[in-house]
Amino acid sequence: MSGAKNAVLPIMASSLLAEGPVEIANVPRLRDIDTFGTLLGLMGAKVKREETGNPGDVELHIDARGARKAEAPYDMVKTMRASVLVLGPLVARYGMARISLPGGCAIGARPIDQHLKGLSLLGAETKLSEGYIEARADRLTGATIPFDMKTVTGTENLMMAATLAKGTTRLINAAREPEVCDLALALRGMGADIEGEGTDEIVVRGVSSLSGVRHEVMGDRIEAATLLLAGAITGGDVTAEGADAEAMAAVLEKLGESGADVSLLPGGVRVRRNGQIRPVNLATSPYPGFPTDVQAQFMAYMCLCEGQSTIQETIFENRFMHVAELRRMGARIDISGSTATVKGVPRLSGAPCMATDLRASASLVLAGLAANGTTEILRIYHLDRGYEMLERKLSSLGADIARVQE
Ligand code: EPZ
Repeated sequence: MSGAKNAVLPIMASSLLAEGPVEIANVPRLRDIDTFGTLLGLMGAKVKREETGNPGDVELHIDARGARKAEAPYDMVKTMRASVLVLGPLVARYGMARISLPGGCAIGARPIDQHLKGLSLLGAETKLSEGYIEARADRLTGATIPFDMKTVTGTENLMMAATLAKGTTRLINAAREPEVCDLALALRGMGADIEGEGTDEIVVRGVSSLSGVRHEVMGDRIEAATLLLAGAITGGDVTAEGADAEAMAAVLEKLGESGADVSLLPGGVRVRRNGQIRPVNLATSPYPGFPTDVQAQFMAYMCLCEGQSTIQETIFENRFMHVAELRRMGARIDISGSTATVKGVPRLSGAPCMATDLRASASLVLAGLAANGTTEILRIYHLDRGYEMLERKLSSLGADIARVQE
């Protein structure tokens, strides 16, 4: 199991809070992580990648004590909106930040109003000028922050900012994702006073400074779900070693409902499917609900179901771009608003297709594994943002898949 990209990124950002070196273990080799390292480097932090001898992962050693340039420039943020995660730490540690407002991306507008509302409640002045958010505060003061909706990076940004604020902060309607909990663990290791992560209310009592830490990142539950779905869609038998069944409970429940045989083993999770694929209805929702990051992959699986499945995407407004590509492989999918109705077909047929965003590209890989004939997927740089050597992992499971030069 590779480390979770969406846990590594906020923990990298939290190094800006530390008055000592931060070591992050079990880090996958992913483009987004390299980009984030470059961003921290631009700010003056020292970022080193240490080989661990284990081919699967690397360690990052970050020393942000030299960071002085509290700015995330447009050309960085436009390629990776997770750059917004430096906002809270910079304001908390240096009293100011200048972050390019992240534009939308393929899956939606992706506003950060909740991040800014929270910073204002903590006492920061924020303003928008020339496409940049400028935030300033002498010292942040603890406050109660009610989120209008569950936001993962919003919760992470404000949890980080609150660690050095004066007084107590309550995050109400906080995101409960396991990656938020992993960040809280790392922050606690740095000396932060945090409780309630994983529930709807997180309480942070500000401290005067944070030290360095060594933290081993949790496994990537989205990658594990993708690999288990590869087993289910091909009628195979896949065990995701080290997978945390609880962090994937909603996906495993739907896999079970579809007729796949799901077994929780001491060292991971095993999925086998040799009967028909029963249709399953689902709606994505914030953790512990069905993750939006697995919606596209599960839809590929439902393309082969015996019957009709409805899949509703409630988190992002435009996360059905894989549908047009799946249709080119013979899938029968109708979209009405935020709901896709999938009418199962006996077989998909391989076709050249285009990746559009990270998880959509994974869904095309899964469809290609199960299709008759060969599928060629273009623009797989989207895939490399979130999956480390996916083709190697799938080949080791028996897939006939190769990376060809574009
Ligand atoms: C995180 O994005 C993940 N990224 C996403 O994974 C994931 O899909 C998403 O959470 C939902 O689980 C990282 O953790 C780096 P949100 P984030 O703020 O934090 C709206 C992947 O594939 N919203 O939880 O940006 C927003 O528009 C990526 O690895 C506001 O309106 O998502 C969305 O509709 C893709 N205002 C909803 O809330 C705000 O201020 C949830 O967004 C913030 C969010």
